[in-house]
Amino acid sequence: MIVERAYAKLNLTLEVLRKREDGYHDLASIMQTVDLWDELTFEEADEIEFECSDESLSGRDNLVVRAAEILRDEVEVGRGVRVVLRKRIPVAAGLGGGSADAAAALRGLNRLWCLGLSEGELAEIGAKVGSDVPFLVNGGTAMVSGRGEVLELLPDPGIDRVVIVTPKVGEEASGMSKTGRLFGMLSPASYTTGSLTRKLAARMVEKGDCHPAFMYNVFQQVAPHAFNGWQETYQAFDRMGAPEIVLTGAGPSMFAVAPNKEVGTAWALLMKARTTCDAVSVGLAPRIDIGSSR
Ligand code: C5P
Repeated sequence: MIVERAYAKLNLTLEVLRKREDGYHDLASIMQTVDLWDELTFEEADEIEFECSDESLSGRDNLVVRAAEILRDEVEVGRGVRVVLRKRIPVAAGLGGGSADAAAALRGLNRLWCLGLSEGELAEIGAKVGSDVPFLVNGGTAMVSGRGEVLELLPDPGIDRVVIVTPKVGEEASGMSKTGRLFGMLSPASYTTGSLTRKLAARMVEKGDCHPAFMYNVFQQVAPHAFNGWQETYQAFDRMGAPEIVLTGAGPSMFAVAPNKEVGTAWALLMKARTTCDAVSVGLAPRIDIGSSR
């Protein structure tokens, strides 16, 4: 049996540059994986079979099944797999959980089916599954652009601890995916040039500095309107003394850099005691080397 961990991601910056002809948006983002993961196991089977610890996610529309089907079609293997997903990353939270599961499925199947695909090839197939998947094939720290498929590796930001807070928010029923809905709430006035992301990336390369004051997320301006109860959670986190609180992805999760492990643990415990949110204090996760995961 093969086991893969699917690590959650944070967006240290997230800028939207423009709307594209294909309906997607060009982005500039610094992404970072963190030590919060789902676990996937892979066993030989005749068909593509899938089971999830969260029953509401065990349908055939799960990105794990999509990734397996797309990979099988790409490499034309006539083999199946039984994948079991143990879910821990909060769902539809901005933490890239579904995309991380899909990326882990590509890594796991590359091993199980002995495909020998390179990380570049897996990322290319991942782009067909979702925009965040190419980065999550390896994770670590990277500047991401295009639709999400252009990756430039960055040094580790030297952050010891982050506290991730996921509010329990009501969402308006719109029939659209959360991410699509949030993109729809942005006006062109919110578009930026990508210079915030490039500046932080340059600081990380030149000075090894990733100060939270330089973090940014374009969706933070619409989050209070997009998610009922988001603002209350933000304010409770703010009262704890977290210096900068930054939204991740299209939300609703937000995070703050904690000065050390003890303060991080305290912030997470207090947030859970004082609000209905989910909160964890985690370290960063390094880049996964495809070669060594075999
Ligand atoms: O690629 P993914 O399926 O994760 O994207 C979900 C939705 O988010 C898309 O349907 C699109 O509305 C929006 N999106 C976008 N530009 C991106 C990534 C996502 O407009 N670069």
